[in-house]
Amino acid sequence: MSKEKIALAYSGGLDTSVMIKWLKDKYDADIVAVTGNLGQQKEIENLEAKAMATGASSFSFLDLRKTFVEEYIWPALKAGALYEDIYPLATALGRPLLAKALVDVGIEEECTMLAHGCTGKGNDQVRFEVTFASLAPHMKVLAPLREWEFKSREAEIAYAKEHGIPVAATKKSPYSIDENIWGISIECGVLEDPMVPAPEDAFQITTSPEKAPDKPAVVDIEFEGGIPVALDARKMDGLDLIMALNEVGAAHGVGRLDLVENRVVGIKSREIYEAPAATILHFAHRELERLTLEKSVFQYKKNIGQDYANLIYNGTWFSPMREALDGFVEATQKQVTGLVRVKLFKGSVTLLGRTSPWSLYNEELATYTEADTFNHKAAEGFIQLYGLGLKTWSEVKKNNS
Ligand code: ARG
Repeated sequence: MSKEKIALAYSGGLDTSVMIKWLKDKYDADIVAVTGNLGQQKEIENLEAKAMATGASSFSFLDLRKTFVEEYIWPALKAGALYEDIYPLATALGRPLLAKALVDVGIEEECTMLAHGCTGKGNDQVRFEVTFASLAPHMKVLAPLREWEFKSREAEIAYAKEHGIPVAATKKSPYSIDENIWGISIECGVLEDPMVPAPEDAFQITTSPEKAPDKPAVVDIEFEGGIPVALDARKMDGLDLIMALNEVGAAHGVGRLDLVENRVVGIKSREIYEAPAATILHFAHRELERLTLEKSVFQYKKNIGQDYANLIYNGTWFSPMREALDGFVEATQKQVTGLVRVKLFKGSVTLLGRTSPWSLYNEELATYTEADTFNHKAAEGFIQLYGLGLKTWSEVKKNNS
């Protein structure tokens, strides 16, 4: 009988390096290491050599950036998905895509098991495993961090040394960091006290607002059907556009977020995020919606955005509910076409202006000058009927008291 094969979501860090050897021994299996590129800046060169030297039988490196932007980030942006009103969901959006990529490779390589390196108290284990359940319910799932014997990083390092597993000599950051082009999530260390302000060294890409340039940056963002397509009149593909906004936003200290959030598993945790492009784009997109969406659609859509954010956060991306919500969102986005001008200055994004061929703003109706075309007489009758119910209620109340 041929050997069992395990597809492992591999990052090249200590946990997943140790895991290759540990899984191999425990299951007498071949390990197919899979890494996805979601735009993380972290060292991704030499990963193949590292995985093979650590004992993997094969290594796949998948560039998922374009798919991530077009099939995950844009739908979330169009929906206005900000978890608990703040978090643009970078980590949470990346997980179902990484999990899907692992399933795809796993099936192609005839693996029978899927393994990941998430801890037993976070959201990411839920996102991975719920995705596995919807895409490959027949495959067995392994989460070594929930069951292995290592109680500390030191114990893992000792195991690595004993088995000749190469470990990076670089000093471990005091924080746990997860990164992709939509944002960076930073936890642990002193951040665990929610009263302690995030120290400067926790931030990976943004300049502190105090040190940001004294001169603001002004950026014109053009949207077509809810999707950003140009910056300062230059058409760009999504990936380049996000990278450019991350750069200018980070330079101006934009996109630092500090949030005590509700995890899926019932814990409140304190998180620091850096998400310059996501912060700017969510802001601009919503401003354009204020201009172009009909009142009841605009107001109702906020609830949809919240539901959409919860669904991403809770790991149910591959679900009929997402498809249903996408249907609503898509029906609202055709008009979200136009230009938004924003100012980036010492950590803030502010609005300078917006314009759209779909604008519902009618200056002749809104103006307080002589150009006014609003029918003031009609207001009188409207108010009489609109207030009739309350007037009746008030009279009856008076007569009965
Ligand atoms: N709290 C965020 C989330 O659940 C970030 C998680 C960061 N993950 C990590 N492996 N460091 O989406």
